[in-house]
Amino acid sequence: MDNRPQWGTRLGFILAAVGSAVGLGNIWRFPAVAYDNGGGAFFIPYLFALLTAGIPILILEFTMGHKYKGSAPLTYARMNKKAEWIGWWQVAVSFVISTYYAVIIAWAMSYSVFALNLKWGDDPNGFLFGEYLKLAEAPGQVGGIVPGVFIPLILVWLITLGVLFKGVKKGIEVANKIFIPTLLVLFFIIVVRALTLDGAMDGLNAFFKPNWDSILDGKVWVAAYGQIFFSLSIAFAIMITYSSYLPKKTDITNNAFITGFGNSAFELLAGIGVFSILGFMAAQQNVAVSEVVTAGVGLAFVVFPQIINEFPAFNQFFGFLFFGSLVLAGLSSLISIVETFVAGVQDKFKVSRTKSVLIGGGLSALISILFATKGGLYFLDAADYFINNFGVALAGLVQVIVVTWFLKEVDSLKEHANSMSDIMLGAWWKICLGFVTPIVLGYMMFDNIRTNIA
Ligand code: PHE
Ligand code: NA
Repeated sequence: MDNRPQWGTRLGFILAAVGSAVGLGNIWRFPAVAYDNGGGAFFIPYLFALLTAGIPILILEFTMGHKYKGSAPLTYARMNKKAEWIGWWQVAVSFVISTYYAVIIAWAMSYSVFALNLKWGDDPNGFLFGEYLKLAEAPGQVGGIVPGVFIPLILVWLITLGVLFKGVKKGIEVANKIFIPTLLVLFFIIVVRALTLDGAMDGLNAFFKPNWDSILDGKVWVAAYGQIFFSLSIAFAIMITYSSYLPKKTDITNNAFITGFGNSAFELLAGIGVFSILGFMAAQQNVAVSEVVTAGVGLAFVVFPQIINEFPAFNQFFGFLFFGSLVLAGLSSLISIVETFVAGVQDKFKVSRTKSVLIGGGLSALISILFATKGGLYFLDAADYFINNFGVALAGLVQVIVVTWFLKEVDSLKEHANSMSDIMLGAWWKICLGFVTPIVLGYMMFDNIRTNIA
């Protein structure tokens, strides 16, 4: 317990936590989720979810990791031997995510190179699925390995495992100190350029226009909570693991507020950038902004290349910045995801970091190759759908209920956090964790099951 590694600085920890949070979810998920769920009006359920679930759970996870000084399984085991499985389950969800998250970063890597000569041509859709992913060569089935995906995927794993081999302070902390400031600069340049494009204001109007009726719609609240959970990387064992490396004295509660608001600030920035660019595209094609809104793979790898083709100048440069940003945002998240099982294996089996990185990271890397095959996209879609609809809400629900109601840990954790913070946790924290969040997540599960059966 005493020779557990530690972050070198508080800033290092915060950058690593923000680095985990800021990922593909901010850039390609948030803008469309907000737009589809009430535009400007979405900010009300979103802020509510951030303040009642996002930040309270971040505080909870930071405090658990700090107090019990363990990876998620060890932290749960130290609270109560019978609860260890919750930590392993969260680790398992993270493991699944890591296998396909790595593949998307590999695509972004390829595309940052393609951007240099606009290799996707006039038909980015045909290029992505035909030429790049080679989907047509094996419709609906797995074929051979696609070298264009396989090679960058190896690079993604070499970087990730290389960082993890180096450890917490010399690896994870150093990587995030480089990646996150760079990401901010790159993204800022993109947003400034986006805001000055023709049609940007139409895009922003479409994004921020509030549809107040949506506030009365349960689905919108479910979307807000879902976005907050995925975006803040909570209930994935990540934040517990990262905070287990904090020094003895640190302002846990304050760290959680900084991480939560930092992630949301990046989300807002991404929303502004993405919708300015979509407004530009709509203006070029003479259609309404609503006609061009997309998210996920389609937004990043089809719509963005189309838009970059139409940029008035420096197309290659902005294309490179955009895909470079995706790579940096993605890598810092992937590192945190893989660290959950590296730390879990290390704590459980008392092996060295090198061994646990080889075992845990190596296994995920091997499985991820499945997605680098012809038709691998189908697996990727299925895994992502399953995780988003069942994994996240259920893991979060079980976590808050077990910690507050079964283990009755909330009071002692509250004391632990308050003993070293400027921000005092009060009754509101317990109410959010014990009542508000379980009720909303319970409804969310129920709603997902119902709509999936119907
Ligand atoms: N929070 C990251 C994002 O917004 C994604 C992520 C999810 C990272 C789950 C780790 C675990 O993209
Ligand atoms: Na995020």
